Amino acid sequence: MQLEPLIEVRHLNKTVVVHQGLLNILMDVNFSIFPKEKIAILGTSGSGKTTLLSILAGLDHQYDGSVKLFNKELKSLTEDERAKLRRELVGFVFQSFLLVPELSALENICLPLMICKQCDPENISRAKLLLERVGLSSRANYYPATLSGGEQQRIALARAFVTQPKVLFLDEPTGSLDVDNGKRIIELLFELNVELGTTIVIVTHDMELSIQCDRILKFKSGQLLETNV
Ligand SMILES: Nc1ncnc2c1ncn2[C@@H]1O[C@H](COP(=O)(O)OP(=O)(O)O)[C@@H](O)[C@H]1O
Ligand SMILES: [Mg+2]
Repeated sequence: MQLEPLIEVRHLNKTVVVHQGLLNILMDVNFSIFPKEKIAILGTSGSGKTTLLSILAGLDHQYDGSVKLFNKELKSLTEDERAKLRRELVGFVFQSFLLVPELSALENICLPLMICKQCDPENISRAKLLLERVGLSSRANYYPATLSGGEQQRIALARAFVTQPKVLFLDEPTGSLDVDNGKRIIELLFELNVELGTTIVIVTHDMELSIQCDRILKFKSGQLLETNV
């Protein structure tokens, strides 16, 4: 029996108004992603990868066509319904990390738990374990400004996993990491994919990372070039 897709994209177009006229960022994009898959999204800079990820995660609903996440058409949900879906089922690691400067590393990881009012001892232990798994136990009380770019990226990754999302979107998660830490993060991602069955969708330039994924979706100038779904 064919599994239901976790993400289904049909005839997705995204156009924005710029001062020269209209800019087509995504053009007639079609694909599906199934539960527990590991998907790499490749493409040159400016090909629409970050825009696509924001739409898939329910952060941007200004698009034409159909984008279903957990069988729900994202643009027909209210802002509150989209927020609930993101809170309960979706994790996101942004290209710019978006750590809160006034919170320590451990507090940043716990932030989604605070928002969901799930700061119980079991979840806090999980946050500490994630801190250890990204190799930063000794930095628990450090503030983002005192952490390197790579360390901030690893904290952002631990934060994304703390609520055990069903699907995790990552925008160039190894971009600021050296080779060793990049490998470590990839290993951790794939371990969590197996342990928790998390579907992962990763925008990356890292060939080593993309060939370890189940499928690669390749974009050029807003168009999907290759896929086998
Ligand atoms: N809100 C916006 N207004 C105008 N142009 C945008 C907007 N968002 C993205 N773009 C443009 O769309 C293109 C794709 O952007 P993006 O999705 O960030 O690409 P990528 O992540 O592949 O580098 C880029 O040329 C970018 O400048
Ligand atoms: Mg980008």
